[in-house]
Amino acid sequence: MQSTESSQAAANNKDQVLSQPTPAYDSILELAPYQTGKPVEELTREYGVSDVVKLASNENPMGCSPYVTLAITEQLGQLARYPDGNGYYLKQGIADFTGINIECITLGNGSNDLLDILARSFVGAHDAVVYSQYAFVVYSMVTKMQGATGIEVPAQRFSHDLAAMGQAVADNANTKMVFIANPNNPTGTQLERADLREFIASLPSSVLVVLDEAYIEYSPKSNNRALLDEFDNVVIVRTFSKAYGLAGLRIGYALSSAPVADLLNRIRQPFNVSRIGLAAAAASLADQDFIEQVRLTNEEQMRWLEKQFDTLGLGFVNSHANFIMVEIDDAADIYQALLEQGVIVRPLASYGLPNWLRITVGLAEDNMRLIDTLQSILTND
Ligand SMILES: Cc1ncc(COP(=O)(O)O)c(C=O)c1O
Repeated sequence: MQSTESSQAAANNKDQVLSQPTPAYDSILELAPYQTGKPVEELTREYGVSDVVKLASNENPMGCSPYVTLAITEQLGQLARYPDGNGYYLKQGIADFTGINIECITLGNGSNDLLDILARSFVGAHDAVVYSQYAFVVYSMVTKMQGATGIEVPAQRFSHDLAAMGQAVADNANTKMVFIANPNNPTGTQLERADLREFIASLPSSVLVVLDEAYIEYSPKSNNRALLDEFDNVVIVRTFSKAYGLAGLRIGYALSSAPVADLLNRIRQPFNVSRIGLAAAAASLADQDFIEQVRLTNEEQMRWLEKQFDTLGLGFVNSHANFIMVEIDDAADIYQALLEQGVIVRPLASYGLPNWLRITVGLAEDNMRLIDTLQSILTND
């Protein structure tokens, strides 16, 4: 048989494939890399647009508390030193703010870090994890990373169907964890406390319920801190990335029973929150006046956007967070057309919502720019 260069290359390739390291679990092969909102710098590079409005990652357009700058400046002479691995001052601030004991708190490098730590601490390859269709994508990611079985329960009017989720737990005796986002990203829906309470009470106490409250500051009614007093199998995860305006610093926290926090703190990397992150988060937590301003501004702008969508004849899902999901034909084309005019929003095809865009509520001028651009695209102006 004649051996050509290309057949030799193919043979080498085959050897390479066979000798490649394989992932710990086949489920890792099902993972797609997390799709982030397009960075402003990338858009400028690709399309040469300079005046970019980013409404794609649910960041706070008002920035963060002015006290953060001072707190960060105070740390600048200490950068050669590791941070406090226990994050004592930040935890003390969180303990005072939430009325929970310091040994019930775990800090994370953003709340995604905590979702990962939770899965690594409690979920093994033979376990199942229950979450809702259209819920935050990281729940299925951390489940698959553990080689566990993800059970996605169909949503009900874009929200968690708690009855069906309870049934899924009952049908799968190996369920170890349930993830619930309240309010949910990307749909913005919110669950009633009484329904949530009833759901948790109906589950075996060996099932850990993770309540993700990333957007809680925008919707104080979604605050389910009280459930921690009643249930040892509840964990609440929060972040400084959204209303606190510190997404670039990566800080989140989990509230749980002390034994759960003890486990999480064993799995957590020793210095998972930076010195600057700790100082900034503590300073921003102390400035609740800023958070109130953020909440009011978001609410006012949300109402304005809803009116505009009504006028444009676009459907939307009522949102309790700082973003809104809008129904639009040819969403992928509209997303692209908006991009080319310097407005970044979030397409939702990867969530199985190809006819929807998720739009973060911006400042008044950002929202006006969005609506003007959208209107001109829709009317072919
Ligand atoms: C529901 C929800 N949970 C968690 C996160 C993670 O945020 P971070 O890791 O920045 O704290 C996000 C971010 O988009 C989110 O929407």
